Amino acid sequence: MIKKISHIAVVVPDLEAARTFWEDALGLKLNHVEHVASQGVVVAFLPAGESNIELLEPIDGESGVARYLQKRGPGMHHICFEVDDIETTLARLKAAGVPLIDEEPTIGAAGKKVAFVHPKGTGGVLVELCELTLEEPAKSGNG
Ligand code: CO
Repeated sequence: MIKKISHIAVVVPDLEAARTFWEDALGLKLNHVEHVASQGVVVAFLPAGESNIELLEPIDGESGVARYLQKRGPGMHHICFEVDDIETTLARLKAAGVPLIDEEPTIGAAGKKVAFVHPKGTGGVLVELCELTLEEPAKSGNG
């Protein structure tokens, strides 16, 4: 079951510079910044109601996010849905013939279980699924 939009991720070349718009001008508040080694990025979460804007700055030039930035420039990268059971959701998508980047969840920012669905199965949108784990109580609201 889909619970909500967890976050919308935006690739930026420089997190500090990006804060000029998202924080200073727009008025969102930075919640936390985290280095996600498995994805080669630094991630900043800015809550917007029940969801978050997730700013992604690649710090590893070989990472998927770095290649995305080189190829397409800054901008929207993916949309993430929080689900109650990520394994069940992945199994349902697989059964429906939707191509998956991750057939099994990996551990992403804040200890969540995450998996990506291939854009060729979604009409061109990179879709992430996440499920909160005990390391990240639902009340924190981060995504
Ligand atoms: Co994400």
